[in-house]
Amino acid sequence: MRRKVIAGNWKMNMLPNETIQFIEDLAPLVKDTEHEVILCVPYTDLFYALLTAQNTNIKIGAQNMHFAESGAYTGEVSGKMLKSINVEYVIIGHSERRQYFNETDETVNKKVKAAFENGLKPIVCVGETLEQREAGKVEEIITNQTKLALEGLTNEQVENTIIAYEPIWAIGTGKTATKEDANDAVKAIRKKIAEIYGQNVADGVIIQYGGSVKSSNAKELFSMSDIDGALVGGASLKVEEFQKIIEFEK
Ligand code: 13P
Repeated sequence: MRRKVIAGNWKMNMLPNETIQFIEDLAPLVKDTEHEVILCVPYTDLFYALLTAQNTNIKIGAQNMHFAESGAYTGEVSGKMLKSINVEYVIIGHSERRQYFNETDETVNKKVKAAFENGLKPIVCVGETLEQREAGKVEEIITNQTKLALEGLTNEQVENTIIAYEPIWAIGTGKTATKEDANDAVKAIRKKIAEIYGQNVADGVIIQYGGSVKSSNAKELFSMSDIDGALVGGASLKVEEFQKIIEFEK
């Protein structure tokens, strides 16, 4: 059985002192969970988060990286830099980055490859707009994004990629995809991975749902056959709410 991975994406929120407090408060509450817990924090919080999360079962990720190792890219941070301070995960191709910072399927693929070259595990985001959903194109859009993001990876790398299916219309809107729609989309992604990399690889890949996940809907989403956890935005900013999502079975 695949494990459940519950990752918080703090986006552009939280200062270092708030980060330390959050992890100090959360760690004892989730120390016995069998699920994987990840916090993807702003660059300025990474170092503090890593220090505070040492000797806990909370893993730390970044929210973006550049695909080059170093060079004249003012304002950017490379995978090599993230790895140098022991960051373990990195979100790649979040829809906000695709929408506001010109990320394309091509840059997403370059970043995913660079993440692996630097020993980081990517959390790759795919998802459709409302317009695309209404046009009946969900499967086409998300399977194509998945295929392009993973192009050129080895089977082993694909197995170690986390995919987050995040319908754009459900992000930060309070609107969650129904558990059936979310599961169908995740299944379509898994089927595409099976076509390209084989059923064994597809059966092992963690595919999360993201978009207005909260403690009140986590259980029904996570009980679906193919949904392996969530990438959580707003609800990951409050210790108690995030804890409840991690302890969704209770
Ligand atoms: P919300 O949970 O705030 O809708 O955000 C989802 C998201 O974008 C996580 O990456």
